[in-house]
Amino acid sequence: VTGILVFAVFTAALGSFQFGYDIGVINAPQQIIISHYRHVLGIPLEDLKAINNYAINSTDELPTTPYPMDPTPIPGAEEEAVASANLITMLWSLSVSSFAIGGMIASFFGGWLGDMFGRVKAMLIANSLSLVGALLMGFSKLGPSHILVIAGRGISGLYCGLISGLVPMYIGEIAPITLRGALGTLHQLAVVTGILSSQIIGLDFILGNHDLWHILLGLSAVRAVLQSLLLFFCPESPRYLYIKLDEEVKAKKSLKRLRGYDDVTKDINEMRKEREETSSEQKVSIIQLFTSSSYRQPVLAALMLHMAQQFSGINGIFYYSTSIFQKAGISQPVYATIGVGAVNTVFTAVSVFLVEKAGRRSLFLIGMSGMFFCAIFMSVGLVLQDKFAWMSYVSMVAIFLFVSFFEIGPGPIPWFMVAEFFSQGPRPAALAIAAFSNWTCNFIIALCFQYIADFCGPYVFFLFAGVVLAFTLFTFFKVPETKGKSFEEIAAEFQKKSGSAKKPEAAVEMKFLGAAETV
Ligand code: GLC
Repeated sequence: VTGILVFAVFTAALGSFQFGYDIGVINAPQQIIISHYRHVLGIPLEDLKAINNYAINSTDELPTTPYPMDPTPIPGAEEEAVASANLITMLWSLSVSSFAIGGMIASFFGGWLGDMFGRVKAMLIANSLSLVGALLMGFSKLGPSHILVIAGRGISGLYCGLISGLVPMYIGEIAPITLRGALGTLHQLAVVTGILSSQIIGLDFILGNHDLWHILLGLSAVRAVLQSLLLFFCPESPRYLYIKLDEEVKAKKSLKRLRGYDDVTKDINEMRKEREETSSEQKVSIIQLFTSSSYRQPVLAALMLHMAQQFSGINGIFYYSTSIFQKAGISQPVYATIGVGAVNTVFTAVSVFLVEKAGRRSLFLIGMSGMFFCAIFMSVGLVLQDKFAWMSYVSMVAIFLFVSFFEIGPGPIPWFMVAEFFSQGPRPAALAIAAFSNWTCNFIIALCFQYIADFCGPYVFFLFAGVVLAFTLFTFFKVPETKGKSFEEIAAEFQKKSGSAKKPEAAVEMKFLGAAETV
């Protein structure tokens, strides 16, 4: 491990950090930003109490300045009150979810941008989106704040969609083979560190208050500028230079910097092998991926793993935990949220070690089964909290455990397991649709969680328990173990799991299309 390798990985991971920051940042100051929207739109506080999603015990402390408007209730206008309350719920759900819409759109283009401009320049270009998004949010108090926040988060989401492809790609390409797994998990570790940091900075005595919430949202501008400056000193990926551009001299120069020694023949030989494999295999388009029967099983499994990750409701917790804790009767919900971030970070670090020891499928199944029981306890706690005050602690502990089980398996595994299902030819298309499915489900949860929570009340996590159970069963019956298996073996397992007793034609066909790889 050389200094320049650490520097390059750190610089790239600043992008993943942003991804996490954006996920966690709107959690703690939800009520404060909502109360600002309310003032901008002239909606009286009483109207919001018409629906139960407005925190029951929110004190809604408002400063006398800079909002000169006095909230005067509209007399007798009950319908209008409900309409205003619904408008606020919609604006808030959009403020949360526009981020995922951006991610969804951009997730398709990360790989393309990286091939077009090189990995380092692509990250630099992407940063301009992060900067624009941060500025819109940072100055949102000067204009129609709800529109500026929704737009800013959407643009920031575009940045995160791009880097969710670019960062793992760059880190994977500059890492020496022996460290690829360990360095690869740093992406998820940076994501969870970003979540935790935003939760801490979002405390009311730091930036999560009426005066400074816009700075909290706009702070990403500093990160964007810092990363842009550091990127100028990062070596371009030698794999990109050699395999994509055929620039052997430049690739060697970059390798020498990264490895810290002059004889880089071994790395070059290994890249040559990869280049031969890539050129011997036909590129598979996204359409072919869906139409060819040989890819049906692995494509379905790839989509389902990402859907399972998101529909488990994990981001319902990261976007909304403060209000969930508030409803569960926890007296310091913001600190409980920080607790979730801390537990999440610790267990991601644990999974870094577990993933290389235990199998992917077994860790995924253990994680999902644990989440199933935790979701049940979460709802039981919420349902019974009126009868027994201590039930609020049951809900809190259940949420902590839910997040821990998530990071043991369902959090990190889908992001790298999908790459193991496919050989060089179909891999880029498969990764693009997997990321798209992840962001789409993220969007659905971000947009709908608040509505589902309002509709189901304390029973909301029973619903997620059911969903988690369904995905656990699917994984159990349909997803094979990939650890230590060659690509042919994985293809044959898929065939077996699809229930066809015939000779595994697909495996043969896939073997023909792709080189046998050991993953
Ligand atoms: C994974 C998920 C992301 C989630 C995070 C939580 O990276 O893809 O949506 O917020 O884990 O740790």
